[in-house]
Amino acid sequence: MLSLVTCALLTCNTAVGVEVSDFDSIKLYTLKNQNEMVVDITNYGATITSIRVPDRAGNIADVALGYRSVESYINAIDRPYFGSVVGRYGNRIAKGSFILDNNKYTLATNDGQNHLHGGKMGFDKVVWKAEVLEDSVKFSYLARDGEEGYPGNLALSVTYSLTDDNEIVMHYEATTDKPTVVNVTNHTYFNLSGEGATTINDHVLHINASKFTPVDAGLIPTGELRDVAETPFDFRTPKEIGRDLDAHDTQLKYGLGYDHNWVLDRIDDAVELAAMLYEPNSGRVLEVLTTEPALQFYGGNFLDGRLVGKSGKAYQHRSGLCLETQHSPDSPNRPEWPSTVLRPGEKYNTTTVYRFGVK
Ligand code: GLA
Repeated sequence: MLSLVTCALLTCNTAVGVEVSDFDSIKLYTLKNQNEMVVDITNYGATITSIRVPDRAGNIADVALGYRSVESYINAIDRPYFGSVVGRYGNRIAKGSFILDNNKYTLATNDGQNHLHGGKMGFDKVVWKAEVLEDSVKFSYLARDGEEGYPGNLALSVTYSLTDDNEIVMHYEATTDKPTVVNVTNHTYFNLSGEGATTINDHVLHINASKFTPVDAGLIPTGELRDVAETPFDFRTPKEIGRDLDAHDTQLKYGLGYDHNWVLDRIDDAVELAAMLYEPNSGRVLEVLTTEPALQFYGGNFLDGRLVGKSGKAYQHRSGLCLETQHSPDSPNRPEWPSTVLRPGEKYNTTTVYRFGVK
């Protein structure tokens, strides 16, 4: 069994360690910086399994939900995608189909009548190739033409690095040999009080967005871009997540809470602030910065205490949240929204940063 503990170090401030699991091809890579911040990532799903960061008093805790063993990721009951890269198309596509260049593509409907996170065997469930670089680790995966119903041989990579400013930088690149759609993101669940803590509703959240995309009961966007003003979805001023959570609101009812896509107020295509999360007791802060146009805030509504995490604690309802940088859900069926189409000769190129701090 792979016990997710760190091992050998290499050179420079930011160090990369490698541990080998019983599944020879599956390894754990550990990034460390000069501030005692430690990040563990496995090439199974290019999955962040642990993020250890200090609080205001310097106490280190693991703020990422996840499991102790690789087997648990492989055998997980209902696959909450803990820490993995999801795709080929992260989030939902209505009715599992889209038309591209007059060709209709049919995908698995693995979420009611819709498609979610790349289908039955998405990128979170495959073994990626790994390359240890000077102070980062690069994971690569070749998704075959027709895999999960998607067109094109897609050569994808994600490079994780950890800076001495406590930033986990995730840089995604891809090319294709046929027109296709691509929308990959990292699906880490955070609890800044430490994984295993009971709730995230006491966390304070800011989302840099004036509009969100309301959904139907299947969590598929209706096509409207709605103003957040005067709604529970207004996080332009930081507020406690639980403050408006029980408001009588159809969108909160459909989401079973917050599980929606915000359209970011962007200046240009640089790496810009999308969201900021703060946990008052520990003083821990997480800033999410990205080149992506939108963000899914998922409040852990499907966690129900059945899954037991790495510290042996059950993951209760809303005990972790995700801030998934992305293009909007169902964009392949929304030509009026920013496109997720990638064509031969083009390069898919996005960056997202998780920056940790205290206040
Ligand atoms: C995303 C979706 C949620 C849920 C989780 C995984 O965040 O928006 O509805 O499916 O993935 O459980």
